[in-house]
Amino acid sequence: MNEMSPIELPPIPMSHRDQTVGFGKGWYCVAESAEISADTLLPVSYFDRELIVFRDKNGDAKVADAYCPHLGAHLASADGCIDAGEIVCPFHKWRFDATSGKCNSIPYTKFVPPQAKLSFYPTMEMNGMVLMWWHNAGAAPEAKPYNVIEAHSDKVWLPAFERSFETTVPLRDLHENIFDTAHIQQLHRSNGMPEIADVVRHDFGLEVNFEAMPDGERTAIHFMQFNFSGMSMVSHVVLGTGYGFCQNNTITPIDRERSLMRIRMFMLDTGSPEMNEQIGKAFAARVMTEIDQDMKVLNFKKHLERPLICAGDGPIMKWREYAEELLAA
Ligand code: FES
Ligand SMILES: [Fe+2]
Repeated sequence: MNEMSPIELPPIPMSHRDQTVGFGKGWYCVAESAEISADTLLPVSYFDRELIVFRDKNGDAKVADAYCPHLGAHLASADGCIDAGEIVCPFHKWRFDATSGKCNSIPYTKFVPPQAKLSFYPTMEMNGMVLMWWHNAGAAPEAKPYNVIEAHSDKVWLPAFERSFETTVPLRDLHENIFDTAHIQQLHRSNGMPEIADVVRHDFGLEVNFEAMPDGERTAIHFMQFNFSGMSMVSHVVLGTGYGFCQNNTITPIDRERSLMRIRMFMLDTGSPEMNEQIGKAFAARVMTEIDQDMKVLNFKKHLERPLICAGDGPIMKWREYAEELLAA
């Protein structure tokens, strides 16, 4: 093994690495619930477009195109604002209903064009995330995403760790990582991963179950499951004797080159704050080390249309079939 530190690659444009058109249909995280209110417009950039995120008078989260349909002002520029349930454009002060998007009034005419309306995206909230539905052809949402906290509501989950960062992985290949079982040992040098037992298709996406490890070792995993909602979200649960973790990780494309990944980790209450802190820190460190190892490769990888798969590679093609389905619709 060469002990010299490797040369760092410069960024490689996505056009050299992935020819995929559009993004997979699904629910994507565009903000934290705590970041938005009925008094402010939160400007964000995702899906190669500019968006605003806010709450209407009923407290419902909304995502709209940031550009005013009149003459294209960015609604969150200058003194653009949300005022008493209406979004007020900074340019000519047209007022749009924050619930329906319809233009309610124009200060200098009584004749509001009937088509004057903001473009909204279907939006929902789940476990502190604001999720926006994306479909390449603009079709309506099909199924709600998997809710890991609700599915394991018999347990008490404590928030343990949060982190967000940009990545340049070809988005469709990110979660292929879970199905690529050979890299667990070869890249992460880990032998502690159970075998994949089965992959089940659901309305929300894919459920991946792992074999339980035999009892004996203190850290033996009794239950491990991943649930993928679209290609934007993965929920991961690990339960063992005296410990348990769940992660809800999301990825949202910023533009063709970059995506934002958010890691949210929860842990089971051990009953001891010191123990919670100790176990939580150890698990978070392990997760971030593995993500760092992955990203050093994934940020430069190419999406190969025809990968050369060999025995022992894991059920990679199960993910590929699923990703194709999400992109084709
Ligand atoms: S551009 Fe928004 S009111 Fe004119
Ligand atoms: Fe990995």
